[in-house]
Amino acid sequence: MKLLFKNIQELLQIREKGITKLSGAEMKELPVIKNAWLLTEDGKISDFGKMESLSNFDVDETIDATGKILMPGWIDSHTHIVYAGNREQEFVDRIKGLTYEEIANKGGGIPNSAEKLQNTSEEELYEQSVARLEEVITMGTTAIEIKSGYGLTTEAELKMLRVIKKLKENYDLPVKSTFLGAHALPKEYRNNREGYMKLIIDEMLPKVAKENLAEYVDIFCEKGYFTVEDTKNLLSAARKYGLTPKIHVNQFNAIGGIQAAVEHEALSVDHLEVMNPEDLEALKGTQTMPVALPSCSLFLGIPYTPARDIIDKGLPLALATDYNPGSTPSGNMNLVVSLACIKMNMTPEEAINAATVNAAYAIGLSESHGSITKGKAANLILTDKVPSYGFLPYSFGANHIDSVFINGKRV
Ligand code: NIG
Ligand code: FE
Repeated sequence: MKLLFKNIQELLQIREKGITKLSGAEMKELPVIKNAWLLTEDGKISDFGKMESLSNFDVDETIDATGKILMPGWIDSHTHIVYAGNREQEFVDRIKGLTYEEIANKGGGIPNSAEKLQNTSEEELYEQSVARLEEVITMGTTAIEIKSGYGLTTEAELKMLRVIKKLKENYDLPVKSTFLGAHALPKEYRNNREGYMKLIIDEMLPKVAKENLAEYVDIFCEKGYFTVEDTKNLLSAARKYGLTPKIHVNQFNAIGGIQAAVEHEALSVDHLEVMNPEDLEALKGTQTMPVALPSCSLFLGIPYTPARDIIDKGLPLALATDYNPGSTPSGNMNLVVSLACIKMNMTPEEAINAATVNAAYAIGLSESHGSITKGKAANLILTDKVPSYGFLPYSFGANHIDSVFINGKRV
């Protein structure tokens, strides 16, 4: 199957093979071809260039992209889209003045979602999750990571991970799976963190590994959740099963989790709303990708990740949604890119780089996704008619998606 896009107003994010991540000043550049064409063949990007260079060849379909932008699809490297029900009530409680922390202390929060999930069948959970996955694909997400962490029992964590596996099997976009058993203490272990950590390490991890249900391991390293010591213990144990760390850290407090993550060669550290100079220093010269989740900051009214400090220090940065029922009931990468510009002072170039090339790195897809590169998957967004790419974050709240392509097929 050959698909040709012609008269593309701007073809965004042209990269040579082998570019894995963009750091510091590199993020300021977004290579573009104006008035371009692009050919996809059997699901991959096979060639592209300026319209003047387009020769005649046989194709199965031609799309006229006059006035439109063609770009790599968004990559959402941090989500929790497998969950049951919602937490609308907590949303209202927060409007009335309770904080996220106060709600959690009252027995709401993550354990509330866990109770709902435990009482939901695998089939029903799959149906609810499919609706979210399809929703985010229509908004331009063409590769995604999904975490467990709303089960909090061995059985329910495995149920979540099996649902993720089924999504992986039934959809063409890359789906990466992360085991987040250490998301919060379940009610039965409220005063027994050590007991729960033991359950995770001795019982859950071996089962997750045996069924081959996850590539990554995550932990919520935060006051009131899990300690740096727990983080180190879990990451060491998970490494024996070949699970790479990607962790929730520095959301409300800086307690040394970034240092532990770096020591354990984490692929990413996510949230980072609260960063001190030592945290930035610890990330320098490492292979760990910092990931910001600005729609979580918007929804909870907490600080935004200090993107300028991170990038100006020469570090890379990726953006993701954090789509989940408690802190971010939204999976809109277009909005995330806008918020990064509006609230985190990232330029459109930096934000688009963070949501494509660097996001691909954060879920191990650098070789195959995240840029317009010959041989990479034809996972693409065709926008509607817009003046230029800066208009995408500028017109916040709009999606400007004409069509989404996964492996060269229009969704
Ligand atoms: O990434 N911070 C930890 N976990 C989720 C929120 C979980 C919830 O409230 O349900 C997050 O924001
Ligand atoms: Fe999260």
